[in-house]
Amino acid sequence: MRTHRFLILIGLLLLSLPAAAQPQAPSLDDRVSAFLEQHRGQWNALNVPFEDGQILHNLVVAGRFRNILEIGTSTGHSTIWLAWAAAKTGGKVITIEIDPGRRALALENFRQAGVDAFIESHLANAHALVKQLPGPFDFVFNDADKEWYLNYFTALDPKLAVGGCFTAHNTLRIYAKQVQEFLDVVRAKRNYQTRIERGGGEGISISCKRTP
Ligand SMILES: C[S@@+](CC[C@H](N)C(=O)[O-])C[C@H]1O[C@@H](n2cnc3c(N)ncnc32)[C@H](O)[C@@H]1O
Repeated sequence: MRTHRFLILIGLLLLSLPAAAQPQAPSLDDRVSAFLEQHRGQWNALNVPFEDGQILHNLVVAGRFRNILEIGTSTGHSTIWLAWAAAKTGGKVITIEIDPGRRALALENFRQAGVDAFIESHLANAHALVKQLPGPFDFVFNDADKEWYLNYFTALDPKLAVGGCFTAHNTLRIYAKQVQEFLDVVRAKRNYQTRIERGGGEGISISCKRTP
């Protein structure tokens, strides 16, 4: 009887060994953060710097934003930060890129970072697609052609939920002149509150819509 029990015990121990030895799959947080750290400072297709990605991520998480639109994917650095935030808020990111090569690299980056399930990527001219997308959105990140910023804002203003934010990259330094008209218009709107965060240096304008 004792030998029988001993054998059962040994059997149970052996059965538990392979499971214990199995490596745990990394959490989404671990996977995305490892990807972003590994690629830090190496993005070379006009991508936002790490600090600006962090700002976008933190804005989305703090505002609990779920319907996110990005104009200008490039190879996907900012999209990954936004999608990581969307994973935390239960949202998703729609992102638009006109360049097929950059968009293809972005898709691969989304997969590697582990956030592809939170992204709907469009290969399209945003001039047309932004008008067609129904919305509503509660967070917009505008990082495509600077001379079109005001047009994007005009098209999206009616689709932006109250409490939502329209953000735009490169509002300080080199593109400041090209985006000045956009900034003047949005700052003059009584139902928007606008501030600029410096981040990595190029500046992100953050215009949040309040009750008119
Ligand atoms: C500054 S980069 C975006 C960087 C990206 N947000 C990131 O941080 O990884 C601007 C991108 O907008 C794209 N773009 C420019 N005009 C566009 C348009 N009309 N429609 C869609 N994409 C456009 C460019 O091809 C370029 O890849």
